[in-house]
Amino acid sequence: MNNSFSWDTEIIGKSEVIKKQLRFIHKVAKSNKSVLILGETGTGKDLTAKRIHELSDRKNKEFLAINCTNIPKELFEAELFGYVRGSFTGAVKDKEGLFEAARDGTIFLDEIGDLSLYLQAKILRVIEKRELRRIGETCTRKIYARFIFATNKDLQEEMKKGQFRKDLYYRINVVRFYMSPLKERKEDIPLLVNHILKKERKKGEPEKEIYQGAMKRLMTYDFPGNIRELENIIERACIHSEGNVINKKDIMLDNELVDCEKNRNITPEQLIQTLENCRWNKTKAAIKMGRSRRQIYRLLEKYKMSDYIRRNFLL
Ligand SMILES: Nc1ncnc2c1ncn2[C@@H]1O[C@H](COP(=O)(O)OP(=O)(O)O)[C@@H](O)[C@H]1O
Ligand SMILES: [Mg+2]
Repeated sequence: MNNSFSWDTEIIGKSEVIKKQLRFIHKVAKSNKSVLILGETGTGKDLTAKRIHELSDRKNKEFLAINCTNIPKELFEAELFGYVRGSFTGAVKDKEGLFEAARDGTIFLDEIGDLSLYLQAKILRVIEKRELRRIGETCTRKIYARFIFATNKDLQEEMKKGQFRKDLYYRINVVRFYMSPLKERKEDIPLLVNHILKKERKKGEPEKEIYQGAMKRLMTYDFPGNIRELENIIERACIHSEGNVINKKDIMLDNELVDCEKNRNITPEQLIQTLENCRWNKTKAAIKMGRSRRQIYRLLEKYKMSDYIRRNFLL
């Protein structure tokens, strides 16, 4: 759940797909209709939802992003619908739910395809009637928020399997937009890379430059994790690279990382050297060596260096 406004919602790209996306965002932002955003993970569904909100008349109101995957059923109902005191153990006072708390802002229900059938029925009622009942309450309350939905699931497929309600599907599928995977709009990669490099730039340091070989490598990759994966790759490359340039060797794709983790033995000297280069920031050192932070701690233990470092640098 997030209602912070310190977002970076700039949408980068020059492809036809991006132009279409921007046209769509501008068109729907001013309407109050529900919007359904479809597409693989990492394609920019969250970003699109936030941008729609920002360009709408509701921009100064709440934007409540709710991820349907993470919240357990019982909690979900209480969180979204609210409850009255004494309606279940632990309900010590009346509480308003998020649907109400959003007031006339925007509710972004992310990963709606992961919602249980039980909760789908509950949500359907809210969307259809624009009203709800807090748990344990008999009267209904009006809802004024606008809804934006997103999912990486194929909802038609889910309906066939009986895992997504048809009536809910037709209710939310009013205005929809499909986000194309990054591999279908590769011409956007260079612009995205520059955008990410700008964000990665450290205070007082010049922005890193990407060499042709490295860019070529990115242009020939398919990015199953889409823009999110591109961000990870560039972040890793920034930490890995020497000086202000990113070379081909600094580009470690997600699938290669696993192999490199398995194959490489890190000597105590390399460990110390890398930690020193990273000013003892273990997260950075871990990324640089293609390991997890926990693996770094384990190596420190293994090489009996923990005490040494604790004494000298405070772990
Ligand atoms: N067109 C774009 N321009 C700039 N950044 C983008 C663009 N599309 C996606 N991103 C960035 O990529 C990352 C993944 O996007 P996100 O909206 O979280 O994807 P999804 O919700 O589809 O998984 C985010 O950091 C987002 O800001
Ligand atoms: Mg998302």
